[in-house]
Amino acid sequence: ALGGAIALALAGCGLVGPAVVDTSGKVEFDRPLAIPPLAPSTLDADGTRVFALTAERGETEFEPGVPSETWGYDDDHLGPTLVAERGERVRVDVQNDLDEATTLHWHGMQLPAAVDGGPHQPIEPGASRHPEWTIDQPAATLWYHPHPHEETEQQVERGLAGLFLLHDPAERALGLPSAYGVDDVPLIVQDVSFDDDGRRTGRATSFAGALGDETIVNGTRSPYFEATTELVRLRLLNASTARILGFELADGRPMQQIASDGGLLAAPVETAHVRLSPGERAEVVVRLTPGERVVLRSRMTSAELGGDDVLAGLNGGRDVFDVLELRAAADLTASAPVPAALADLPDLPGPDEVAIERRFDLHGFDINDRSMDPDRIDLVAERGRTERWIVHNTSKLPHSFHVHDAQFRIESIGGAPPPPELAGWKDTVYAVPETEIALLVRFDGPGDPEHPYMYHCHLLMHEDAGMMGQFLVVEPGQDADEHFRMDDGE
Ligand code: C2O
Ligand code: CU
Repeated sequence: ALGGAIALALAGCGLVGPAVVDTSGKVEFDRPLAIPPLAPSTLDADGTRVFALTAERGETEFEPGVPSETWGYDDDHLGPTLVAERGERVRVDVQNDLDEATTLHWHGMQLPAAVDGGPHQPIEPGASRHPEWTIDQPAATLWYHPHPHEETEQQVERGLAGLFLLHDPAERALGLPSAYGVDDVPLIVQDVSFDDDGRRTGRATSFAGALGDETIVNGTRSPYFEATTELVRLRLLNASTARILGFELADGRPMQQIASDGGLLAAPVETAHVRLSPGERAEVVVRLTPGERVVLRSRMTSAELGGDDVLAGLNGGRDVFDVLELRAAADLTASAPVPAALADLPDLPGPDEVAIERRFDLHGFDINDRSMDPDRIDLVAERGRTERWIVHNTSKLPHSFHVHDAQFRIESIGGAPPPPELAGWKDTVYAVPETEIALLVRFDGPGDPEHPYMYHCHLLMHEDAGMMGQFLVVEPGQDADEHFRMDDGE
């Protein structure tokens, strides 16, 4: 029903979105970039690495002396960076000190459904949960954020988000920049709005969701980063709730993209522009010369969004944001070159290996004309089988598609093979308007007929409005738990 209303509104009124944003040249870059602290951990008797995160309210001075209410984990705003090694058993003791229910979801993580942190696993005020799992996937830049039913956008917007970095021996052996906060720099980028005094305000809403008129990085407004090495690895996370960002260096120089959502690419990809929809990550390596300053900015046009002028209004069309100034020291420490080969990506499964094909039509705020129903299971996947998921954004609106528990590969976009930066492991993909994207996905289990995972649009207002479905991963031959209503395919 919502979808219909949107289509009507779009057809009827000629969409008026928020004004075009251009902060380029207006940002002063007068504050050092905050680096999220590394989360402390302890090893318990059986070797499990134990972290603790408490969701709490806080106050942040984006401008000195002007406090805004923000939420964070063990902090006033955002949360610490968790780091773990492939093969490690981890537990996170999650405490909710907010006065409303929340959940904590591990975006991009392959883990049992019972600890996925989706909407079925609320943590009531004052309560805690203790998700525990074994890290069994390649080195990657993952993140965590709440996922409460219909309340995700407002909790993430207030600042509940943080990074979860995974390492593995193969990645360490490459000698990539890896000194956290020195030449391996996390960048959590979010669009926000401020009043003239520098107090955070609400943001203008469009059909995409709330859109801010500037960006902050790791919670810092107007940030600069002082680089001391020739090469700097930037771990980019678009943690905006709706805005699609396109990262580039303002002088047009290329960057080397080395990783996408789920880990390293097969080889570095030289690119001048990295498009990330909400929830997507990319790692890029930037080469600096001594003493220079270069601005990392975001620039998106409706053409790059894959649409016409309708999109321009939705994403603020032709928008340019100054994101961060990189300031190179007068003397830069030499960096090892980025290796020409990064990761062994398995070949895409051939047609014979695809056990089943499913379609996901994105339209309005629905997937396959249905809205999220926590009591309904939309599909059941059998552990270990490769599935082809055809995601079709049938509209002119921007959407994205995120799948829990798995890293997938993109087989095609609009019938063509994906560009190299989208050919690696992904868990979220920008759903280009009026385009079909074929994903190859396999869930490695364990099967659990009682706890669903989610797939959804990661534009969080859309997710909250019901643009989400639920699936179970089961052992071969296993049935879904009987308390669920099964999708009848209507
Ligand atoms: Cu990043 Cu289902 O979420
Ligand atoms: Cu959407």
